[in-house]
Amino acid sequence: MTLNIEDVDELKAPEPEPEPERQRPQAKAPSKPFWRRPWILPLFAITVTWLYMQIEPVAGVPEEQLLLPPHENFSAYYPLLITHMTFGTLTVLTLCLQLWPWLRLNHPKWHRVSGRIYIVGTVIAAISGLIIVWWAPVPGKLGGVAMLAFWLGITIAAYVAVRRRNYVLHRRFMLYSFAVPANNFLAFFTYLAIDKFQIQIDFAYFLEYARWVPWVLNLMLIQAWIYHTERRPAPRPSVVSSRR
Ligand code: HEM
Repeated sequence: MTLNIEDVDELKAPEPEPEPERQRPQAKAPSKPFWRRPWILPLFAITVTWLYMQIEPVAGVPEEQLLLPPHENFSAYYPLLITHMTFGTLTVLTLCLQLWPWLRLNHPKWHRVSGRIYIVGTVIAAISGLIIVWWAPVPGKLGGVAMLAFWLGITIAAYVAVRRRNYVLHRRFMLYSFAVPANNFLAFFTYLAIDKFQIQIDFAYFLEYARWVPWVLNLMLIQAWIYHTERRPAPRPSVVSSRR
């Protein structure tokens, strides 16, 4: 029996069916580990340094030995000051957690918990601050009242927005709210610079500066950042961790 070349072709193994193109697994956006984010560690370091420098001169010192504004006949001043310091500390620590993208993306539950602590801490620190500010020196006093009232109002507005599930407005108001606790660092480190370099300045001007410029400047920077990132799609929390 002879085989034609055509027959040989028929005996050839059939061409394999082209495989339907497999769906490629969605490439997960590479999330940078926290130590590669250049600002999160410095932010924690600055916060802890600032807190230490605020708390150390006060901790364990009896009220009469503290350098406080005169507050005769107002015995609630000291308990209110300690309340302000305690809840203010909570707000600056939770502020760092709120700004930490890794926590927000990988542990949204912790982001939410720290957000709630921030809101409660703000309400208590701001209300106690609004009382003790009446005994503060006159220069900068109006700035202090404006800052604390804005902080309280915008944080409550952020809470109301999230209760109404208006997350866009909630995010915006929370960012505005962060301008206030973050102002402390600029005000305090300016004070340290003035002290270190022996800059001659009337202290009244410094107080006015400290109670107005840092938080208003922060607000302007935050607004510029909101405009700048308006069209950028918001990074979503990872599916796995958001189920936790
Ligand atoms: C986080 C946001 C905070 C804001 C917006 C804020 C703002 C203010 C304002 C406006 C006053 C009254 C004005 C004055 O007396 O100069 C004040 C007083 C004071 N705050 Fe805060 N504060 C915050 C957090 C803290 C923290 C975390 C501490 C310390 C741990 C602290 C310690 C004090 C002290 C010791 C006073 C009385 C100072 C004095 O009158 O000599 N504050 N704060």
